[in-house]
Amino acid sequence: VTSTALFAARATGITGSVIDSSTSLLQAQTHDVVRLAMGSPAADAIPAEQFERLAAEVFARAGDGAFDYGPTEGEPGLRAQVLRLIADTEQRQVPPERLLITAGGMQGLDLACKLFVEAGDLVVVESPTYTNGSATITGYQGELLEAPVDGDGLVVAVLPDLVAAAGRTPKLIYTIPTFQNPSGTTLSLERREALVELAESWGALILEDDPYTPLRFEGEYLPTIEALAAGRVPVLGVRTFSKVLAPGLRVGWLTAEPEVIARMINAKQSMDTCTNVPLQRLVEAFLAEGLLPAHLERQRRVYRERRDAMTEALAAELEDIEYRCTQPAGGLFLWLTLPEAIDTQDLFDAALAEGVAFIPGPAFSASGAFANALRLCFASSSPERIREGVRRLARVVRRRLECGGSH
Ligand SMILES: Cc1ncc(COP(=O)(O)O)c(C=O)c1O
Repeated sequence: VTSTALFAARATGITGSVIDSSTSLLQAQTHDVVRLAMGSPAADAIPAEQFERLAAEVFARAGDGAFDYGPTEGEPGLRAQVLRLIADTEQRQVPPERLLITAGGMQGLDLACKLFVEAGDLVVVESPTYTNGSATITGYQGELLEAPVDGDGLVVAVLPDLVAAAGRTPKLIYTIPTFQNPSGTTLSLERREALVELAESWGALILEDDPYTPLRFEGEYLPTIEALAAGRVPVLGVRTFSKVLAPGLRVGWLTAEPEVIARMINAKQSMDTCTNVPLQRLVEAFLAEGLLPAHLERQRRVYRERRDAMTEALAAELEDIEYRCTQPAGGLFLWLTLPEAIDTQDLFDAALAEGVAFIPGPAFSASGAFANALRLCFASSSPERIREGVRRLARVVRRRLECGGSH
């Protein structure tokens, strides 16, 4: 017998991530590539010198348990800092029993699905969406109900029809309401309210995945769905330091009802025992020194410049080509839709050879839609590199269009 013949039924739903696979693919490239693919902060936006100093302090305190197992719910110092951060940014007090420190946002998504999604459960997802999240849902054998996204985020008004057509109500709604990955769009306040109302009527949970709210560089702060829904609909709030500090830290958090957090702690104990202790303490020290506000301020300024550099470069380089792109007011990404003759999966190799990398649109939908769209990260390259990357992209797009969209 081969081992694959013995796979659990759920193994077929474990699909992996085109997005994550591009990390090793891009690391293997030896020629000059403008990297507009991964959703990471810029290398020059990582507070490396502060990390170096603070890490030295953390590492010097081995006797203080820095390298020991830590409490599953998270390091007490970091927990206190995160609660303060929520109070400062969202103007609401979260009691400690509603908080769990996680190994990044992904672990929050996994714990949420592990506890709430079982075979056949219907889960609303955005289309396009962050497919690492939807893959977590299908990994627990949930069934996806894909709902469209427009310039104001998830089109909440179509949900009742989609749900009626599905013939059953969803158990969970997975949404990335703010500077969505991949589209960069933000769910309007009216739609947030409407979504909470629908969830209430269906008795559904909302899984709010929000790594990007702190990276708003334009427009008004919008309350999280978690804040809006308080006392009406249970919300699992998944957050992470990956986009505001550094993704390699693998430190994030989740907020939910105390009974849910208690069960998640049990689940995490049979998963990874505790989140990486020295790096939790590094994040704690960064927050405790009050370094985050200035860091975010700089990031917002830089990312706004880079968003502008990218949208201006697209307008200049694709002048004679019909395209649409979103205008994100924060976050890391914009979504580019090219003429229908372009297949962005097909375009990827030629673009890589030309020296530019992006993530093709179909990587962001379980059903493989968005053949002529792609995601660009404007945050991780300088304006000059962005302009060069867009020039290279425009060259391969034009070449494709000249030969009728084929090779
Ligand atoms: C919407 C969304 N959720 C979750 C994550 C994963 O975050 P982390 O790297 O902290 O696991 C990402 C990262 O790209 C994301 O865009």
